[in-house]
Parts: sequence; C-alpha cells; structure tokens
Amino acid sequence: MHTDLLKELCQTPAIPGREQALIDIMVRELRQTCDQVEIDAIGNVLGYRKGTQPGARKVMIAAHMDEIGFVVSHIDKNGFLRFSPRGGHVPRVLISQRVKIIGRKTLIGVVEGSPAFLKREDQQKTPEIKDLFIDTGLSEKEVNKHVEIGDVIVLDRDFIEQGDICMAKAFDDRVGCYVLLETMKRLKRVPVNVYVVGTAQEEVGVRGAFTASRGIDPDLGIALDVTAAFDVPGVAEHEHVSKLGNGVAIKIADAASISNHGIVKFLQGLARKHRIKHQLEILPFGGTDAMAMQRNGKGAVCTLSIPARYVHSPNEIIHKKDLEATIALLVKFIEASETCKLEF
Ligand code: CO
Ligand code: ZN
Repeated sequence: MHTDLLKELCQTPAIPGREQALIDIMVRELRQTCDQVEIDAIGNVLGYRKGTQPGARKVMIAAHMDEIGFVVSHIDKNGFLRFSPRGGHVPRVLISQRVKIIGRKTLIGVVEGSPAFLKREDQQKTPEIKDLFIDTGLSEKEVNKHVEIGDVIVLDRDFIEQGDICMAKAFDDRVGCYVLLETMKRLKRVPVNVYVVGTAQEEVGVRGAFTASRGIDPDLGIALDVTAAFDVPGVAEHEHVSKLGNGVAIKIADAASISNHGIVKFLQGLARKHRIKHQLEILPFGGTDAMAMQRNGKGAVCTLSIPARYVHSPNEIIHKKDLEATIALLVKFIEASETCKLEF
C-alpha cells in the first residue's frame, strides 16, 4: 500500500467551512476517474461516473473532507490567542499540543491553560475550552502581522508509519477520503450510476452530506468514516465497538442512523465470499454522513467504518490492512449493488 496520498490528505489543513485545500486534492484525484467533477455551494466535491445499465440505481458514496479544528477568535495585548472550536474537541487532549495557525504566514503555537499550572490543586482538573489559549511565544505586534480573526487553526502532527499501523491527526475522515479515491481508481465500469462525494462540514453536524443528498437523491448511500476502536487497556471486551486489525467494520447502527438490514447482510455476504476481513459494528454514540443520506435521500444506507483508536485526538491510530479491506469490500459492493435487496 502506498501511503503518500494518505499522508498528503492527513497533513492538509481543512476544517468545517474552510475545506479548500482538501477540495483541491479531491478534484485533482477525481478528475482522473470520474466522468464529471463539480463543487457545489457548500463546498462538497461531487464526482459522477455514469452506469452501463439504463435505469440502474444511483449509489452515493460519501466521505467527509473536514477535520476538527478551530478559528482564531481573539488576539490579546500580549499576543496570546483565543480560539473558537469547529467540531467536537476533548479539552483534556488539547493541553500542551502544538497547533498550526494558518495566517498570512503559518505560525506554530502551543495550547495551554493557566489554571492547570499555577495552582497545584488545579493540576488534576479537566479544563474547558474557554479556559485555554494559544501561545506562539511571539509579541502582539509579531502575531498581528501574520494572523487575524477567523484564521484557521489545526493540530500539528506528523504522519507516522510503524509496521502495519499509521499514526496521525485527522484520520477522521481522511481515511474515508482515501478509500473513496482508491476505490474509484480500482473500479471498472459498473451497471449503477456512481456518485462519490467529498462532503463539507460533517464535524459540525453532517451539513454537506444533507445538501449533496438532496441533489443526488440516492437509492443507496454508503458513508465512509472512522469508528471507535476501544480495544485498549481498561475497556471490557464487550465495549470494544471495533478492534484494530480485525478488518473493515460494517455498521449496523450508531446514534444517528440505522443501516438497512439488507445492505448489511449483502456486505457481509460479499466479505465472506471474497475473504475480506470484516467485523460488525454497533456504536452507541456518534453519527456519519449516512445520517444525512438516510434522511434526505431515499433512506437506504450503511456505513463502512475504518477502526481507529483515539478519534478526535492528534494521534489517531489505524491499521493499513483495515484500510485495504475497506477498499476491497467497497469495490465489490459497487460492482454488485444493483442486485442488493433491501430488508427491514
Ligand atoms: Co469526527
Ligand atoms: Zn468522521
């Protein structure tokens, strides 16, 4: 597996509403594999490949382009920055993290919170985002030269490969984007009409997928996203949700969507037939673009999940073989999707 593209996707800053840098990559890649590529008014990238069978189904595949991040909300007289979150952050993991501030010039800062260090008894407390600030070490004058209110801030972490695993920020959902792009490279002409969508603004409430689904009105919708892999010390076996290295996770349900039972069975059958490593997933919280496709398309959806540890942290961990399994199953699914029966 070549990880150059995955690395590029992870290291490209794109937060909800400011996805342009990722849009550029998606357009560049999809132009090679789609009949048509468009960008809509919310910033979704829509790739379309016409099917060979007249009147065949419309199959929509969605992966969100945005990562969680922040924008600069205030610069104080000593040069310290305040920030407004875009997406769900865990304040505990933010302390002492390096961030990139994408201004006229990109600056590196560190997230800190004074109460955590000034008083000994406060050191064990979990801070709130409103108590945190970013320090670049630079003077107010220097900061103001390069940065203004509204500038994008992302976590600053390198992409690392270590044996079969990769560690990086933003695997949520750049692994989904990667699977989507790779799938289109491997997919031959198929009977169904394929709509691949890099969606915008998922991390602030699945917004881009709602817009895209309304336009496309898909018969079948598959979301690609990470799911929790809680296979770590201190978590009981029955609460693992998914396990790293155990293959693509076929989602039965999460808090925001219930996968069509027929699609789940169909995917499971294909995985068995083609010996693709897979696991079934029930996530008691969270949601994916499937939620929007279910409510704003015709209603039949499923999510193929890539297991990831420490989702929404600077060090998400994924397994390359799970990624491969996801691509393999998605290719088989699209090829056969005209014959998939819906069940309830
Ligand atoms: Co997320
Ligand atoms: Zn996600």
